[in-house]
Amino acid sequence: MARYLVTGGAGYVGSHVVLALLERGDDVVVLDSLRQGHRSAVLPGAELVVGDLSDRRTVEEVLAGWRFEGVLHFAALSLVGESMREPLRYIAENVGNTLWLADAAVRAGVMRFVLSSTAALFGLPQRIPIDEEETKGPVSPYGESKLMAERGLEWADRIHGLRSASLRYFNAAGADPGGRLGEDHDPETHLIPNAVNAVLGLGPPLTVFGTDYDTPDGTAIRDYVHVADLADAHLRVLDRLKDGPSCRYNVGSGTGASVLEVIAAVERAAGKPVPHTLGPRRAGDPAVLVASNDKLRRETGWAPKLGALDDIVGTAYAWRARNPQGYRGVLAENVA
Ligand SMILES: NC(=O)c1ccc[n+]([C@@H]2O[C@H](COP(=O)([O-])OP(=O)(O)OC[C@H]3O[C@@H](n4cnc5c(N)ncnc54)[C@H](O)[C@@H]3O)[C@@H](O)[C@H]2O)c1
Repeated sequence: MARYLVTGGAGYVGSHVVLALLERGDDVVVLDSLRQGHRSAVLPGAELVVGDLSDRRTVEEVLAGWRFEGVLHFAALSLVGESMREPLRYIAENVGNTLWLADAAVRAGVMRFVLSSTAALFGLPQRIPIDEEETKGPVSPYGESKLMAERGLEWADRIHGLRSASLRYFNAAGADPGGRLGEDHDPETHLIPNAVNAVLGLGPPLTVFGTDYDTPDGTAIRDYVHVADLADAHLRVLDRLKDGPSCRYNVGSGTGASVLEVIAAVERAAGKPVPHTLGPRRAGDPAVLVASNDKLRRETGWAPKLGALDDIVGTAYAWRARNPQGYRGVLAENVA
């Protein structure tokens, strides 16, 4: 048993990782400002400290208050579109918060660190599937901020010996198969929850951005990885860092689904059509983004268990259908 600090553990991916840590018997302290996350997404069993990472004193107090084996760092600004409007805020906040946190961890003697990184640092890739060696060329300040954070962590390893793992997620999707957690962002920018909201009448009709891509059905193809599989990847790299070197992995299911295939899967889950309209392409959206997960499989033994699109969409649909108001409707249950 070990204790871990999870920043952003009240958010979507972080809360699922907290659940996985609790289920294997680890102790967890969540540090979250609740700017995007939800108090009720922090399950009983985890300790929640409400605070912002930019407040360095709070970060130091938390690191001094418990004995941690490692830090898992999810808290970040993560909207690509917003980052195009506020580039310097995104870079300053994401890079600064990550590296000050790493610095405080080193000073507290906590020498394992897992960073939520992103496929967005590849920009417009040359080869599909995208492996770890693909050229880095972010096309947004958001992607740039994660690339800079990864580079800062490399220096923390070289000079201080901080062992880190950077996990470049493709599209995290789905919900806890046990129904305890789900995805609840405001604004929601992800395809699957927006399609689910549209079919449940909880959001506007979905817009399909681009129908003339060079793909079999003309719509863009993305790699969706189930959030529970993503959580499993975190546990595996955390354990590997005990004796292994710093590492970087692309985390995706290794297969792609088009927008129309996602819509069809939501229709199967709901048993009715998803209201949608067909629109033009969005600037900067590549036709196909699919991960190579070979390195992660080879080095950690990871394999997606819920990789089928119907598992991903089915769990997302089930959570939202049971919680139409998202976490606002489950406050009472979990806060006890
Ligand atoms: N969701 C995806 O598909 C995806 C894909 C690639 C990368 N990522 C990365 O994974 C991480 C988690 O993504 P998510 O979808 O769970 O996001 P999320 O917004 O649901 O969760 C982020 C959490 O961090 C908290 N937070 C943000 N800034 C903070 C700060 N300064 N201090 C303290 N808490 C703060 C928020 O309140 C929220 O609870 C992010 O770093 C994101 O860049 C996510």
